[in-house]
Amino acid sequence: MIITIAGGGSTFTPGIVKSIALRQKELEVSEIRLFDIDKERQDKVAVVVDWILKEELKTNIKLTVTTDEKEAYSDASFVFAQIRVGKYAMREQDEKIPLKYGCVGQETCGSGGFAYGLRTIFPMLKVIDDAEKYAEKDHWILNYSNPAAIVAEACRKLRPNARVINICDMPIAIVDIIAESLKIANYSEIEYDYFGLNHFGWFTSMTHNGRDILPDVKAYMKKHKILLPESHIGKINEHKKANNRHAVSAWVHVWEAMYEMTEYFPDFLPNTYLNYYLLGKESVEVSNPDRTRANEVMDTREKDLFDGVEHFLKTGEIDGKAFYAGAHGDWISDLTIALKNDTRQRFLVIVENKGAIPNMPYDAMVEVPAYIGKNGPEVIAKDNIPLFQQGLMMQQVNSEKLIVEGAIEGSYEKILQAFTLSKTIPSARVAKQILDDMIIANKGYWPELK
Ligand code: NAD
Ligand code: G6P
Ligand code: MN
Repeated sequence: MIITIAGGGSTFTPGIVKSIALRQKELEVSEIRLFDIDKERQDKVAVVVDWILKEELKTNIKLTVTTDEKEAYSDASFVFAQIRVGKYAMREQDEKIPLKYGCVGQETCGSGGFAYGLRTIFPMLKVIDDAEKYAEKDHWILNYSNPAAIVAEACRKLRPNARVINICDMPIAIVDIIAESLKIANYSEIEYDYFGLNHFGWFTSMTHNGRDILPDVKAYMKKHKILLPESHIGKINEHKKANNRHAVSAWVHVWEAMYEMTEYFPDFLPNTYLNYYLLGKESVEVSNPDRTRANEVMDTREKDLFDGVEHFLKTGEIDGKAFYAGAHGDWISDLTIALKNDTRQRFLVIVENKGAIPNMPYDAMVEVPAYIGKNGPEVIAKDNIPLFQQGLMMQQVNSEKLIVEGAIEGSYEKILQAFTLSKTIPSARVAKQILDDMIIANKGYWPELK
C-alpha cells in the first residue's frame, strides 16, 4: 500500500507522516512517497521524515523522495495533495495587497483566497491527471491544498470523474479546541452536525455522550470572551512558539471573534473563518499590514522545521518540537482508514450539493457530513437552511464559481465580478484596484486575463 504526498516539502509533511506511521497496521502502508517541484526544500523535510519512520517510530515503511511524477504516483493507492503554489512568498502577497486597500487580507478568504485559487487551479489539475495516469485505478486523492473551496469547484467542473475528495481540518480543529476548553479528554468523543461551504459554515449541534454541549461552549466564551483553552489564555504571547498553531498570534483574534459572532447570532456555532466576512472591518483593524500570518508562519513553523533539520545534520539530535504534528494529520489518516477499510465513519467533506441542502444550488460545492466507505462519501441529506446563512453562502459560492469560470475563460470581467461580489470588498473600484495589483504580483502564476 503506497501513499504519495504531493507537496512533500510542506511544513505539515512530518506531522502527517507521523500520523500515518502510527496507523501503519490499519492502513497496511508499506511505502510513503514524497513528491514536490522544489527538490531542495523537499530533501530537507525528508531528513525529518526519515528520522520519524526509522528512529522515532522504528517502522519498516519505505521512504521514496522524488521530483519525478511517474516514480511518485506509480501504483499509489492514496495521494494526499497539499501543494502551496507560490509558497509563503505569495501567501504574503495575498494577505498584504488587500490590506493596502483596507480590505481583509487572508490566504483563503476574500481576494487573497481568490488570488491563491487562481494560482492553484491548474497545478492541481496536473496532480489529478498524473495520479490518473500512474496510480492504481481505484486510487483516492485527498486534497486539502487551499483554497479548498475553489479547488473543489474547479475539480467538479474540469475533472468531474476524478477520484478526489476535498477536505479541511478547521472544523475538527475547532472541536479539538472546544474539547480542551471543556476538559473533554479527546475531540473524537464529540459528535456534531454542520453545514456550509469550505471556510464558511456553521455547527448546528454538538454533543458529548449524548448531552448538548453548545450551551457550555457559549457559557465558556461568555466567561472568557474568547474560545481558547484556559491554559492558553493569559499566556497568549508565550504561546507564540506553542505546539497548537491555531492558538497563536494572528489566530488569537479569530478565537475572540468566535465569541462576538455567537453573541450576535446564537443559533449556531460559526466556523472561525466567518469572522473575515461578518467582522471583516474589525479584522482589518487588528491586522498588521507589514506583518501578517505568512510572516508568523515563516518565523515559526517553517523556521523551526528547517533549523531542526540543520541541527540534526550537525549533531544527530532532533527535537520533537521542531515539527508540527497533531489533529491535522490524525484526521487525514483516519479518513484514509475509513476509505480503505470501508468503516463508514462520519467525516465532514466538501462535495457537490446534489440536493443535500435543498435551498442551495444543485451544483454548489458544500461542506457537509458524509459516511465514508470504500466507494467514497455518502452524503447525509439536510433540510433547507435559514435565509441569513443561505444569503451569505449564495454570495460566497457565486464568487467562487466566478473565479473558476474566469480562470477557464481567461476573463478579466468575471474575476472582477468575483472580487466585487465578495463581502470582504466594499466597492467595484476597490475590487479593481486590488485585482490590478494582484495581476502584477501573480505574473507567471495566473492564467492570462483579457
Ligand atoms: P508549504 O509551502 O510549506 O508546502 C507546500 C509545498 O508545496 C512546497 O514544498 C512547494 O514547493 C510545494 N508545491 C508548490 N507547487 C507545487 C506543485 N505544483 N506540485 C507539487 N508541489 C508543489 O505550505 P504549508 O503551509 O505546509 O501548506 C501546504 C498546503 O496545505 C497549503 O495549500 C495549505 O493551504 C494546505 N493546508 C490545508 C489545510 C486544510 O484545512 N485544507 C490545512 C493545513 C494546510
Ligand atoms: C486551518 C485551515 C487551513 C489553513 C490553516 C492555516 O487549519 O483549515 O485550511 O491552511 O488553518 O494555518 P496557518 O498556521 O498556516 O495559518
Ligand atoms: Mn481549511
